[in-house]
Amino acid sequence: MLEFSIRLRTMKIHSIQGMHDILPGSVELWQKIEVATRSLFRLYGYAEVRTPILEEQELFSRSIGQETDIVQKEMYTLAGHRGKTITLRPEGTASVVRAYIEHRLDREQLLSKLYYIGPMFRRERPQKGRYRQFHQLGAEVLGSDNPAIEAEVIEMLTRLLEELGVEDVRLLLNSVGCPECRPGYVQKLREALEDNASSLCSECLRRMETNTLRVLDCKVPACQPIIDPLPSIQDHLCQTCTEHFAHFIEYLDLAGITYEVAPRLVRGLDYYIRTTFEIISDRLGPTQNALLGGGRYDGLSELLNGPPTQGFGFALGIERLVLLLSRQEDLEGTYAPPEPELFLAYPDKATLGEALLLARRLRQDGIFVYVDFGERSLKAQMRLANRLRALFVCVVGEEEVDSGQFSLKRMSDGVQQKLPRDAIAEHVRQAV
Ligand code: HAM
Repeated sequence: MLEFSIRLRTMKIHSIQGMHDILPGSVELWQKIEVATRSLFRLYGYAEVRTPILEEQELFSRSIGQETDIVQKEMYTLAGHRGKTITLRPEGTASVVRAYIEHRLDREQLLSKLYYIGPMFRRERPQKGRYRQFHQLGAEVLGSDNPAIEAEVIEMLTRLLEELGVEDVRLLLNSVGCPECRPGYVQKLREALEDNASSLCSECLRRMETNTLRVLDCKVPACQPIIDPLPSIQDHLCQTCTEHFAHFIEYLDLAGITYEVAPRLVRGLDYYIRTTFEIISDRLGPTQNALLGGGRYDGLSELLNGPPTQGFGFALGIERLVLLLSRQEDLEGTYAPPEPELFLAYPDKATLGEALLLARRLRQDGIFVYVDFGERSLKAQMRLANRLRALFVCVVGEEEVDSGQFSLKRMSDGVQQKLPRDAIAEHVRQAV
């Protein structure tokens, strides 16, 4: 028993499978992505929204769809208060629409343009590009059924990817119809599938019964000869959906955006109506190749007991974007800690307090000051300053403190200069 408890105590604790730390060296790229997103989205009129990570489970089962993979098997759900079941959000759209309804944002503006950046959770089998905690940046436009807004969102996205230097991506578009035309198409699809049911994989067989459209998404090679010749949804859209899609494409053409129509693109969430899209990259591998996805979801607000509201949006997987960018720039392993502008060295414990006071003053003046806490000798502090590639070193000894005159050594050439306390910040600033 004792041995067991000792063994337990010496066992290392790791992060949970499929959930990762983002360390210095990687986090800078994340910050770059976030800064670029915020400044670009502002130009298009988007405001940030931050919703809780936990929501009532029903929000997701109603929005995403009871029969989807996410709701059936991927949600982290736990017991909440007063018999409620709560879930770690697997995506952002349902939460944004819930917040839109709850805070009556429809009253404030005709059109709400909202964006979010944050962690999402899905209990999927982890592999490269697929995690259990991952991060999305997404945007939602509520209150317009104009296909021009769809093209505007896509233009914003392509600009973001361009600004970040993402190469070799493809934009895939489709329409999944509406309650008018989709049921007829699904019926045709089911009939065609039933003729070949015995050759389909078990997942397709299940989907055929519960969520027929999703059969089109199957990647199992043996199913492809059956799926390829299936009727195309593009040939079964009603007049309104056909016109909507045609206008959407006209606006994309106007913006000079290239795309491919992909009639098999159906997406894994049930709230979509009419336009759906994905931006994919072959560099992400054959299965997790979607960098981002989105579409129109008119009716989702009503499904959540809100006012009739049209919606359109997308979400991008930040880990996948980081994978693409770090592969392109070969950034991995190139991290160097930031270089101090001024390294304050002190001879002994007695002067540490003075060094800290001076550091506090200089930081107020915007200088990046490094003070070592390793109780090293002055010589060892000098070596450390060198290793950290500090721009200047200044010794804070008793004599310097008493005289109020400090000697600054420029590390690049060893040139020293004596300065009063008040002149240090300006001197460093001029050299930066
Ligand atoms: P989604 O296609 O489920 O759509 O996810 C969007 C993106 O999130 C994916 O293209 C992928 O980059 C990333 N992603 C999804 N699951 C994982 C995972 N397990 N690991 C890593 N990355 C992942 C949505 O979530 C919709 N809410 C998009 C939307 C917004 N539609 C309308 N508005």
